[in-house]
Amino acid sequence: MNRDSASQRILKLRELINDYRYNYHVLNKSIMSEAAADSLKHELAGLEELFPDLITSDSPTQRVAGGVLPGFSEVAHRQRMLSLNDVFNRSEIEAWLARISKAADLSVDRIELFCDIKMDGLACALIYRDGLLERGVTRGDGFVGENVTANIRTIDSVPLALRSSKQAALFLKGTTEVRGEILMYKADFESLNEQRVKDNLPPFANPRNTAAGTIRQLDPALVSTRPLHFRAYDLIREEPGDVPSYSYAYEMLRSLGFSVNPMASVFIGLDRVMNFIDQWEAKRHRLDFNTDGLVIKVNDRTVYEKLGVVGKAPRGAVAYKYAAEQATTRVKDILVSIGRTGAATPVAVLEPVQIAGSTVQMATLHNESEIERKDIRIGDSVIVHKAGDIIPEIVQPLIQLRSGEEKVFKMPKICPDCGSDLVKKKSDEAVWRCPNHSCPSRSWKQIQHYASKEALDIEGLGEKNVIALLDAKLIKDAADIYSLRPEQLMQLERFAEISANKLIAAIQEKKQPPLARFLYGLGIRHIGIQTAVDLANKFKNLDAIAAATTDSLAQVDGVGEIVAESLVEYFSEPRSQQLLAKFKQTSVWPQPVTNTGGSLVGRGFVISGTLNSLSREEAAEKIRSLGGTFQSSVGKETDYLVIGDNPGSSKIAKANQLKTQILNEAQFLAMLD
Ligand code: IVH
Repeated sequence: MNRDSASQRILKLRELINDYRYNYHVLNKSIMSEAAADSLKHELAGLEELFPDLITSDSPTQRVAGGVLPGFSEVAHRQRMLSLNDVFNRSEIEAWLARISKAADLSVDRIELFCDIKMDGLACALIYRDGLLERGVTRGDGFVGENVTANIRTIDSVPLALRSSKQAALFLKGTTEVRGEILMYKADFESLNEQRVKDNLPPFANPRNTAAGTIRQLDPALVSTRPLHFRAYDLIREEPGDVPSYSYAYEMLRSLGFSVNPMASVFIGLDRVMNFIDQWEAKRHRLDFNTDGLVIKVNDRTVYEKLGVVGKAPRGAVAYKYAAEQATTRVKDILVSIGRTGAATPVAVLEPVQIAGSTVQMATLHNESEIERKDIRIGDSVIVHKAGDIIPEIVQPLIQLRSGEEKVFKMPKICPDCGSDLVKKKSDEAVWRCPNHSCPSRSWKQIQHYASKEALDIEGLGEKNVIALLDAKLIKDAADIYSLRPEQLMQLERFAEISANKLIAAIQEKKQPPLARFLYGLGIRHIGIQTAVDLANKFKNLDAIAAATTDSLAQVDGVGEIVAESLVEYFSEPRSQQLLAKFKQTSVWPQPVTNTGGSLVGRGFVISGTLNSLSREEAAEKIRSLGGTFQSSVGKETDYLVIGDNPGSSKIAKANQLKTQILNEAQFLAMLD
């Protein structure tokens, strides 16, 4: 980017970031997520680094956090309130562990790590003298904070006097400092906002902001009407030996009458810490308050102190941040991708951006009207959202950042791959389709689908080999693969004698496939593997399915009008009939179903993690052969969640929420028996 366009972009970014801040802090309105705003700040900082002479003192990058508000007196902290360095993944924690292990001269397996939820509130220090609350001070700039004692005293969970007990007696003498987070619970925040809306007041943006704003109110009477909580995370004495570890600190804090997070625990080793992180990633949404990660600290305070401080953060602790699910980037182009069934889907080509731990370069735009509705243009800066396994999506364009050179996307009238006129069906108005069944995009996706694991499961017939066979004109459709000979494959660069023979053998092995797999492999619109299983069980052979009417098809569980019509349409097309005839000629035909029913009829299963005794596909096949259904995600229809090694935490969380029964591998195998 040249200096001129950087300068223009910088001005626009500053304006939008300031707009975000104004809405957030003054109007308590959120015009975008914090993650998206951070992403914009990151872009701004990058441009300012490239062109340092464009930095101005009012740029959002030049803001120093904290500071004391007028109206409160300043109090110097007895000990600086530090921040934490962030880590985002396993390897960053591993690197931190290696660094502290070296600096402390301790092997990693001898370092106890104290892990707690990172609460998303407002840090506060409470000073007790001889057991009585003397002062409450905000973090401020870390050195000096605001004296907010009167407001703090209104918070019920702040003890005005430390609880006396035999084991914590020491802390009732002299000065004891307790640090922690002031929080507003999510539920309280929701009801507060509901009330504000009823009172015609603008709603607050989020719980943290509301807690911070409340504590800085000059009127303690108003503060007392807002439900705030205090959760402690640190206990400080002049004599460091009084608190030898963080686990001891939490035990004492509890005795002294403070609420601390009950899940905080000590672990040794990276694997255990990661396990804790993964567990809480799934469960964190169930906490009363917001959290964006975990705090990991060296438990032994002597070691912790010895590790010292670098800049504003202690070396002996880090904050693990759950990956933000949103970021901003630019739409470089909008292309149209033709799917297996011919659907033409517009796809945004993005400037690569890291979201939730992976690089995102494409986002689906679903269809033409979605682009129009969101007004997404080529060249736009956009907010992109990606959560878990979900396909990345564009949330919104950032219209304020437009330069005027953005282009409105026009859906092409012809298929970008074969040039056929795209068509729209009445039943499916939103979607344009390529009607050409021999369209290169459709052919390779279709053949690859036929060979895929859940369909015919032909080993070695993946995307690259399918494309190579099509390019060499050795095949045109799925039926052609059965006529391939090893010598033909060996003419291609990708194959030698052994690999060619292996692929031909794998293909020939699958000449009498199970009916459901074959039906699914045909790639008929709306026919997933479970529907194929249900149809196979009901009609027993392919000829019966091909001859069925929409009415009789619709009697099968899970087959509605759209699915039934799609089947009838498929089997009535001359092209499909020719393909099926070709299969028959090469002696390829699905086996009829002889027995149906079984011990798992009507039961829905989801598997999460790796099973030791059988693969996912084998497990799915077993479930289906016993009449059960194999599902990809936990929902109301799921009866059992089977857990293998390294299960996904979100599936477990969903199962817990829906009270779905959870089985381990042994229990699952017993059911199959
Ligand atoms: S331990 C050096 N434990 O996170 C500070 N902090 O980014 C070590 N926080 O200023 C603090 N939950 O306000 C600790 N369980 C927790 C926490 C926590 C939230 C905040 C705290 C601190 C900030 C550091």
